[in-house]
Amino acid sequence: MTGDQKSSPTAGSAETSKPWTGRFTAPTDAFVEAFTASIDFDKRLYAQDIRGSMAHARMLGQVGVLSPQEAEQITVGLAQVQAEIEAGQMRFQMSLEDIHMHVETRLTELIGDVGKKLHTGRSRNDQVATDVRLYTRESIDAILAGIVRLEQALLGLAEREADTILPGFTHLQVAQPVTFGHHLLAYFEMLHRDAQRLVDTRRRVNVLPLGAAALAGTTFPIDREFVARELGFEAVAENSLDAVSDRDFAIETVFALSLLMVHLSRFAEELILWSSPQFGFIELSDSFCTGSSIMPQKKNPDVPELVRGKSARVIGALQTLLVLMKGQPLAYNKDNQEDKEPLFDALDTARGSLKVFAEMLPEMTVRRENMRAAALKGFATATDLADYLVRKGLPFRAAHEVVGKAVRHAIEAGCNLEDLPLETLRGFSPLIEADVQDVLTLEGSVNARNHIGGTAPAQVRAAIDRARQRLAGLEA
Ligand code: ARG
Repeated sequence: MTGDQKSSPTAGSAETSKPWTGRFTAPTDAFVEAFTASIDFDKRLYAQDIRGSMAHARMLGQVGVLSPQEAEQITVGLAQVQAEIEAGQMRFQMSLEDIHMHVETRLTELIGDVGKKLHTGRSRNDQVATDVRLYTRESIDAILAGIVRLEQALLGLAEREADTILPGFTHLQVAQPVTFGHHLLAYFEMLHRDAQRLVDTRRRVNVLPLGAAALAGTTFPIDREFVARELGFEAVAENSLDAVSDRDFAIETVFALSLLMVHLSRFAEELILWSSPQFGFIELSDSFCTGSSIMPQKKNPDVPELVRGKSARVIGALQTLLVLMKGQPLAYNKDNQEDKEPLFDALDTARGSLKVFAEMLPEMTVRRENMRAAALKGFATATDLADYLVRKGLPFRAAHEVVGKAVRHAIEAGCNLEDLPLETLRGFSPLIEADVQDVLTLEGSVNARNHIGGTAPAQVRAAIDRARQRLAGLEA
C-alpha cells in the first residue's frame, strides 16, 4: 500500500488513514483487516452514502456548526468524489474498510482539512443505517415497478385466455374445469398482495436514523427534520439506540421478498409442469430455454427452474437476518455489517426474477387444444352433474352417490360422462333429462360459475377490469 496511491485518485494509505489511530499503537493485522472489511459489498452504497453526507453537511451549515463556506466546500467535494467513483477512478482498498471511509478519506484528499469536519455529530453507525435505508427504499421502488410490470403482463395474458379452458386441479388430480384467464388471475392476486406488503414496509424503511450518532445522540445542535426533508424520509427515528441497531426494516423487506419469491416459485413450478410433454399446456419461447448437451430432443425450462431455485436464496437471506439479530444487545454491533450481503442478494434476486418472468410470459405459446383435451379427460364436470341433480330436488349427498356410480360406469366403458347415452344416465337417476348435456360440457361448467371470484369468462373479464383499477390505485 504505497507509491502509486498518491498519483491516482485514491483514498489515502493504510497506516495514516485509519480514523482510530489515536487510540492504537499497533497496525491492524493484515488478515483481520481483510476479514473485517466490508468494502467489497458496501461500495454499492456510494451514492446513498454521498447523498446522506451532503444532507448532513448542509444541515451542519444551517445550524452553524459549519460555516456556510465549509458546508459548500464539503458538498462540492462530495460531488467530485461521486463523479470519480462513477468514472471508475476510485481505487477501493481493504485498509479503508468500508464505503464511508473511502468517501471521507477521498473528500479530505480533495478539499483538505475541511473534509475532516464532515463527521461532526455523526457516527458510521447512524450513517450506515441511513445509507442502507435509502438503498432499500430505492430498491423497493424498483421492485414495485417490476411487480406492476409482471401484473400487467398477467392481465394481458388473462384477457387473451379468458375463454380458454383447462382442468383445474386439487391434489394434482383433475378437479373441475377452469378458464386459463382465471388461473392466471390467481397469480395476480398473490403479486398484488406482495406489492401492498412492500408499499406498507416502505413506510417503516423510510425513517431517518441520522442524528443518533454512535448510539446516544450528539452534543451538537442538529436539525434532524431538516436532514429528513433533504433525504425524503417520512419520519425521524424516535430513539437513538433503536435507530442505530434496528434492522427490522431489512427483515421485513426480505420477508416480503421471500413471499414474493414463493409465489414466483409456485408459478415457475406450474410452467415447468405445463411445458412437459405429459401436460403439453404451454411452450416457452426458445430464448427462455436451453437444450441438453447429450439429449438432442430436450428443451429445458431453465428460467422458471432457476427462479424456483433462487427462491431458496431469498428465504435463506430472511433466515440469516433473523438469526443475525436475535442475540444482539443494544445498540450497534459489528454483527450488523452482515446485514448487507443477504439484503442485497435478496433485492437483486427478486428484481431479476420479476424481470425475467415479465419478459417470458408474453412470449409463451398456449396450447389451448391440449388444455381442452386434458379437461375433457378426468370427469371434470362430475360436480356439475351433481349440482344439476340437486337443482332437480335431490339432496347433495345423494346426488354425489349417483354421479359417483355414473363415473364408475364411464370408467369401465372407457368414455366420458357426456358420451354416455341419455338412457344410460337415466338408469342412474330418472331426474336426468335431455338438458343435462348443457351442464356436462366444459363451457357449461365454467359459464355456470358466474359470481365474483368465479371462473366464468364473463367474471374473468370483470375481474381484469377491477384489477386494472387496483393497479392504478397502487401506482398513485
Ligand atoms: N461497515 C460498517 C457496517 O456495515 C459500518 C459501521 C461501522 N461502525 C463501527 N462502529 N465499526 O455496519
